[in-house]
Amino acid sequence: MSQDQASLTSKIAVVGAGEVGSTIAYSLILNPVAGDILLIDPDTSRRDAQAQDLSDATYHGNTSTRVLTAEPEEAAQCDVIVLTAGAAQKKGESRTDLIGKNVKILKSAIEGFKGSLSSDSKTILLVVANPVDVFGSGTFLDSARLRGILASRSGVAASSIDAYVLGEHGDSQMVAWSHVSIGGVPLDQAVGKNEIDKKSISEETKKKAAAIMEAKGATAYGIGGVAASLCKSILFDQRNVRPVSHWQEELGVCLSMPAVIGRKGIVRTLPMDLSDQEKRELETSAKSLKEVVQEAEK
Ligand code: 2OP
Repeated sequence: MSQDQASLTSKIAVVGAGEVGSTIAYSLILNPVAGDILLIDPDTSRRDAQAQDLSDATYHGNTSTRVLTAEPEEAAQCDVIVLTAGAAQKKGESRTDLIGKNVKILKSAIEGFKGSLSSDSKTILLVVANPVDVFGSGTFLDSARLRGILASRSGVAASSIDAYVLGEHGDSQMVAWSHVSIGGVPLDQAVGKNEIDKKSISEETKKKAAAIMEAKGATAYGIGGVAASLCKSILFDQRNVRPVSHWQEELGVCLSMPAVIGRKGIVRTLPMDLSDQEKRELETSAKSLKEVVQEAEK
């Protein structure tokens, strides 16, 4: 499907019109991938105001994307439903601390459109509300942050750096350092073995969201761009490889590993040949996520 055709016909529902939902909608306007963005929120005055403000951003330039307000059941007619509804992380809270509150909010958001989905529905559900560890944006954002930090350290554009943060989008995440490359050249060879302090960069990547939240209360633009990029990969069947969260049979939990993203969502997962140390770190992340899930199911 060409970009123009998809732009005319595709619809994306954004459930939750808070900071993150509205920023995703804004990213989808700046980088148009759909004809209509349907904003859904139980707080209808916030929803309406966000839709009006976002629409003002569409009346210039050459975007043909419309931002509309919608009722929950209308999400079922969309090609992609982005779920952002959920409590925001407070200072000192981890993403997994949100599971109790957010599972309830997500369940009720899903109830809003579940009954209206047809049995052969091709709608893709993308979870952005934390904890994101189902088909969720996962560690795509952390990987983008890592590539940004490596770009500033190495003086090479982030777009020429391949680097993956895997596991939980949260405190137990890990970096697959053995696969980091710059222009296809392994990192140590590209910049010199002792030039990059991997431990401190892993920490900086992990703590970046908390540092932003400490100063401005929330993050929005990073996740806005990441979610819009995933919508584009889905709608245009782009087959980009992204570290997103999905079920890992061997580990018995959902966490982020590189996957090919296309019109069916996760088209296939790419097994990554990790070092023994990295495998242990990934298993630790899986264990920690399993404990969170078990706790939430009690
Ligand atoms: C982020 O990493 C808070 O999960 C959100 O920006």
